[in-house]
Amino acid sequence: MTVTKNKEKLALCGGSPVVSESNADLFHWPVITQEDENAVLAVLRAGTMSGTQITGEFEKEFGAWLGVDFALGTCNGTAALQEAFFACGLGPGDELIVPAMTYWASCTSAAATFGAKVVFADIQRETLCLDPADFEAKITPRTRAVVVVHYAGYPADMDEIMTIAAGHEITVIEDVSHAQGALYKGRMCGSIGHIAGISMMAGKSFAVGEGGMFATSRREYYERALAFGHYERWTASRYSMASYCMQDKKLQAYCGLPVGGVKHRMNQTCSAMGRIQLRYYPARIAEIQKAMNYFWDLLKDVPGIRAHRVQSGSGSTMGGWYMARGLYYAEELDGLSCADFCNAVRAEGVECCNPGANIPLHKHPFYLERGSGGSLPVAERIGEIAFGVPWFKHFDPERIALYAAAFRKVAENHTQILK
Ligand SMILES: Cc1ncc(COP(=O)(O)O)c(C=O)c1O
Repeated sequence: MTVTKNKEKLALCGGSPVVSESNADLFHWPVITQEDENAVLAVLRAGTMSGTQITGEFEKEFGAWLGVDFALGTCNGTAALQEAFFACGLGPGDELIVPAMTYWASCTSAAATFGAKVVFADIQRETLCLDPADFEAKITPRTRAVVVVHYAGYPADMDEIMTIAAGHEITVIEDVSHAQGALYKGRMCGSIGHIAGISMMAGKSFAVGEGGMFATSRREYYERALAFGHYERWTASRYSMASYCMQDKKLQAYCGLPVGGVKHRMNQTCSAMGRIQLRYYPARIAEIQKAMNYFWDLLKDVPGIRAHRVQSGSGSTMGGWYMARGLYYAEELDGLSCADFCNAVRAEGVECCNPGANIPLHKHPFYLERGSGGSLPVAERIGEIAFGVPWFKHFDPERIALYAAAFRKVAENHTQILK
């Protein structure tokens, strides 16, 4: 019989929890300073919430940072992705491939608004991103586009995906909602595919409130996105430079209303805040990366759990490390379920440790009714192979070590909770 030292007794079995304080300051986000407040107040005082002049500035700065020729601010990420579907001409009879592990906005308007069929592909066990092999297997003559989600900050395998897509003339839409500022082999996620859709809602790593960004280096796509939901930007004005306005004569004929029948303009309190956030974002996510890498380095030798992170020295990064995850290997812990493992870690005072991530979309009735079901073995096991870890915003080695100790304690003493 193994005798457990008292200090190692799991909290679930009557021991003391490792983390006994909330440490809310370590996790608080976004960082709002007087500069953000002043920028937002200036918009409110000038009454320019509904204009486009500040948004235009934000777009130029954001586009330059991302490395694309055109960025278009939207009211949310869902709208940016909807514009992406319109930009590439998705319609009835077309198919859109998307990983099942994502938020519904990555694909739902493709079916609901444009009448395309959504075809789900599986994810890779280590990256939690689109599996290029399954993407290729799902291609048919009707495939028009693929949405690539850099899931929980992890850059998807863009080299493979771009090569496969090029062979079939498929438009690649990057959903960068989890990975603003993440690098893939030195290149910014969102600048590699043909179009990017980005959420900037308050919970994201790049946060402006409710906001989003459509981005592309193809003028044709940009103009179609403009036409879809930005009726006020057809012609050059004091606020819209001619080079950013509609040049396509066919589209110009529709001037005066948005052809999508929707209004996607970004609230300028958000764009004003976005301009300030962007100035500090690279330094802030560098600190997040330092903190998260430190946390995972402390857990390198712990059985059953592994970091969901890119290899150091690969030129890739996890950006703002949104929705930080760990990977779970039950076989290394005598078959202890991920749910039981997480339960014990939560008892140690780590509230965010829950099994899984998003619920795979392909089993949702909306998609089952549209024939988008099917079997995706890896995505369907998400609750057994992934779990939540603390999303540290600040590098505080002592307190980060405390959280790491909680995970280590449960893994190393897991026999106490084996059923
Ligand atoms: C992967 C992904 N895509 C798209 C969206 C939609 O963005 P928004 O909520 O800003 O509309 C979100 C999140 O909210 C997301 O997580």
